Amino acid sequence: MERLDKVLANSGYGSRKDVKKLIKSGLIEVDGEKIKSSNIQVDINENKITIKGEPLIYKKYIYLMMNKPDGVVSATFDNFDETVVDLLEEYHASFNPFPVGRLDKDTVGLIILTNDGELNHRMISPKWHVDKVYYAEINKAVDDGDIKAFEEGIEIDDGYKCMPAKLSILSADSNGSRVMVTIQEGKFHQVKRMFLARNKEVVYLKRVSFGAIRLDEGISEGSYRELTEEELKALKEI
Ligand code: URA
Repeated sequence: MERLDKVLANSGYGSRKDVKKLIKSGLIEVDGEKIKSSNIQVDINENKITIKGEPLIYKKYIYLMMNKPDGVVSATFDNFDETVVDLLEEYHASFNPFPVGRLDKDTVGLIILTNDGELNHRMISPKWHVDKVYYAEINKAVDDGDIKAFEEGIEIDDGYKCMPAKLSILSADSNGSRVMVTIQEGKFHQVKRMFLARNKEVVYLKRVSFGAIRLDEGISEGSYRELTEEELKALKEI
């Protein structure tokens, strides 16, 4: 059971204030009865809700793509730091979305937020082999030996042997390198630890894609938007 005004606001019929007005004006019916009180509880599976005579189109899940900025943690709550959820407008936050997987505090780029637990599970389970692509800047020259080692599976500091990963070099010299890395797992600090195992350091890390979803470069750091119908379809086809 949920409050009628919350159900309407979440389904895109306006802000909580707007839908309260809508309810007051007598345009909402629940099981054929005109409702004028916002705080009645409804069950969207049991009750027939209409708005100006049209059946309610209920929105249960929300899917957002955010360009995470540096310094923000990918969690729903943190005692010290700002979280990705803190960056959401009230309407989007009201769905209680959470980040799909994690990015380090200093990693920027694509993070998906949703309240769809099943999708979250599939996106982060290594079983589904979802590619995560990162752009990285490295403090030293990355070379063919690194590409080969990534391909074969890097053993990181705790002895874990990573699944094969794809490394491609955009530029490399003794001042540093620009590379693209594709991994299918999401171990803690994974990309950084893979380079450390090669005695190199990641100095900048940005996730540019996650499965079928590519970061929309039109979204500035700290901003976000809902996924389009096509993106959502592609995501669910994984
Ligand atoms: N690998 C890392 O080291 N950090 C991230 O945030 C993501 C992948």
